[in-house]
Amino acid sequence: MSKLAVKAEADVIEGVYLCSALDLPDLFGAAVEAAPGLKLYRPEDVPDPSRIRFALVWRPAPDAFEAYPNIALVQVIAAGVDGVLRNPSLPERAVVTRVHDDEQAAIMAGFAAWHVVWHHRRMGNYLAAQEAGTWDRTTIKTLRPPSQVTVGVLGYGLMGQAIATTVASMGFAVHAATRTGGDSGDGITRVAGPDAVQQVAARSDILINVLPLTDATRDILNADLFARMPEGAVLIQLGRGQHLVEDDLLAALDSGRIGGASLDVFHTEPLPGDHPFWTHPKVIVTPHEASVTSPKAVSDTLVRSVQEIERGQRPTAAVDKTTGY
Ligand code: GLV
Repeated sequence: MSKLAVKAEADVIEGVYLCSALDLPDLFGAAVEAAPGLKLYRPEDVPDPSRIRFALVWRPAPDAFEAYPNIALVQVIAAGVDGVLRNPSLPERAVVTRVHDDEQAAIMAGFAAWHVVWHHRRMGNYLAAQEAGTWDRTTIKTLRPPSQVTVGVLGYGLMGQAIATTVASMGFAVHAATRTGGDSGDGITRVAGPDAVQQVAARSDILINVLPLTDATRDILNADLFARMPEGAVLIQLGRGQHLVEDDLLAALDSGRIGGASLDVFHTEPLPGDHPFWTHPKVIVTPHEASVTSPKAVSDTLVRSVQEIERGQRPTAAVDKTTGY
């Protein structure tokens, strides 16, 4: 081997894909492996685990990190990092980074907006009328203008802000639970404080959840919260399955307290075939596909984070392990 080739190999920073649920090389390999200076392996192909400096991950197995004593960076392929921060083998020293992808936020905002319109316009009525072949123009008679419909947004990071802006631009009254309150003149009412979630929920005809999953937000969508919401309000749940007490939602749907729900995330994924959500007449189920990160955004964030780590800097995309986002 020439001297140059030895040098080139030494300069390559090696990483490993760690995932129990998706084929990451298939989804992201083409983008991340094209990045100069990085080499990624499937775990079974790693030549020397001690040379592995970073991992690209999604729902890694509980012992996934054990084989790699020198991992300095754990890059999650998505915006949510809860499945990684709780991993028992995650090394203390490793910095965890996540993807900030404006395109992902735009896709999420469109998805949320679609569900807002679906519930606001009671599109289910139209589908039923079409099924029956009836020209039924009664639904519009009870339509409330968007300015009189409050849409609450729980979680005000990149996703929550994109959703709030989009839904506000459609004329709805948007109230968001944020870390700092106040009105910024953009039509979005920000609510801060320890009970911001409860306050926003209490005003919301349609409540959209995109909170990060932390100990403070686990089970936050529960009977107590539903009891505070306007009768017949709607839940659009795009955060994490563990935010929602599923039995509480089923009871609230059956009593009419909650009028409908769009659910993209669940306690158990894939949603078990016999789960009552599948057939509930007031529930729309989608398979955790409200949005998706682009391979380019994953690759760009990974390359930048590796470079920052190698320069001894804290990566721009690093999450705070204590807050969990
Ligand atoms: C998807 O669930 C994400 O966290 O980006």
